[in-house]
Amino acid sequence: MSLDTVKIAVLGCGTVGSQVVRLLAERGGDYAARCGAHVEVSGIAVRDIDAPRPDWIDRDKLTVDADALIDDADIVIELIGGIEPARTWVLRALRAGATVVTGNKALLASHGPELHDAARESGASLYFEAAVAGAVPVVYGLRESLAGDRVEGVLGIVNGTTNYILDQMATHGWSYDEALARAQELGYAEADPTADVDGLDAAAKCAILASLAFHTRVGIDDVAVEGVRSITPADIAAAKRAGGVIKLLAHARRVRTDEGEAVSVHVAPTLVSTANPLASVSGAFNAVVIDAEAAGRLMFYGQGAGGVQTASAVLSDVVAAATHIAHGGSAPRESAYESLPILPASQVTGEFQLRFAVPDRTGVLAEIAGIFAAHGISIAALEQTCEDDTESTLTLTTHHSTRSAIDAALDELTHTDSVTRVIAVMMREA
Ligand code: NDP
Ligand code: HSE
Repeated sequence: MSLDTVKIAVLGCGTVGSQVVRLLAERGGDYAARCGAHVEVSGIAVRDIDAPRPDWIDRDKLTVDADALIDDADIVIELIGGIEPARTWVLRALRAGATVVTGNKALLASHGPELHDAARESGASLYFEAAVAGAVPVVYGLRESLAGDRVEGVLGIVNGTTNYILDQMATHGWSYDEALARAQELGYAEADPTADVDGLDAAAKCAILASLAFHTRVGIDDVAVEGVRSITPADIAAAKRAGGVIKLLAHARRVRTDEGEAVSVHVAPTLVSTANPLASVSGAFNAVVIDAEAAGRLMFYGQGAGGVQTASAVLSDVVAAATHIAHGGSAPRESAYESLPILPASQVTGEFQLRFAVPDRTGVLAEIAGIFAAHGISIAALEQTCEDDTESTLTLTTHHSTRSAIDAALDELTHTDSVTRVIAVMMREA
């Protein structure tokens, strides 16, 4: 039986794109058998046609004319990253009815509605497994496996670069700069690593996960975000003393408010107790814990970054897309019928760990405890360690509280002479 050929345009031939091209060449026979169609790379769009490439890249397929490539393709794989020209090219493909496969979380989290609307209007399919957690099939998990359930919360490590940095700092005593440079060498970091270390990459993924989990539109600007730049070896040592490790966590949860249901989404360095399975997620691994009403708790774990690992996720989408082209069918449509409001960052609740430098004198503890009580914050634990004769470090752990109450208490404390300086404020996950 002769099979049809599905033409694939690959936009980008960097860390991920080059691995996608290699696997398409090496596994083409398997993919044809799985899809019922031959998959053929018709061209690869790059910025610099003369740049060095891995030896498996057929240089005759390289082009700077992405438009021509897109217009002739059945499937467009977008792996260039960033907003433009990725947005223009993805829209061009979708409006022409071509299937798009992308790993571009920044684009999805900032222009998702526009892309989904374009796909719906032309009947095109949009796949994005690689956009969250590298090789880990969490997009499929939420979009398809849990389509019949009601998701209550998603909590996870979704940025490989920052997990690698925090892990190397904690376990090998590396400096922040040393760990970041190595993460870049290993191909984990974004082209501009500030997106990783400032938490924006994790925020984009948090928005995508929340949109899928709660059937509502959540964009990157909805996510309150804090990165890892300010984490010091002293913070890591304090976390260890408190029986935990610091992880950059994406938190997304349905919450009930006086006005009804809402979504709470934020990304922040979090003190994770060593008893929590997320504490043992090391290196560039990612893990996402999903709480669903009927399924209960699920955990997705695996390589969260890297060229070949991410290529696996891209190719799962390519196989699904080519199968649909050969046999009929399409990607699941966007499901955003719940239209839930986003909880303001000040109303985010959780347990917090706060560290202060305090003068070593009578009455300090009483004044601090009084201010927390006045703001309705219940203290779960308190530890004082003396640095020298004049100053101590006070580590205070709270029960559940809102961020706004914590901030108000801190504001009042910094106007007293009971606190010399606030060293760190961090959420805590048991
Ligand atoms: P790279 O920076 O390694 O590669 C980007 C590629 O895009 C390069 O080949 C570059 O061309 C090409 N490119 C960039 N701008 C243009 C342009 N204006 N016109 C044509 N080509 C262009 O990125 P990655 O492979 O690391 O990432 C690609 C995407 O995958 C991003 O969206 C990223 O967020 C996502 N992703 C990455 C992961 C990873 O671990 N690296 C994991 C999960 C997702 P040239 O080679 O000529 O410079
Ligand atoms: N820069 C990203 C990370 C790549 O470190 O997780 C995977 O999305």
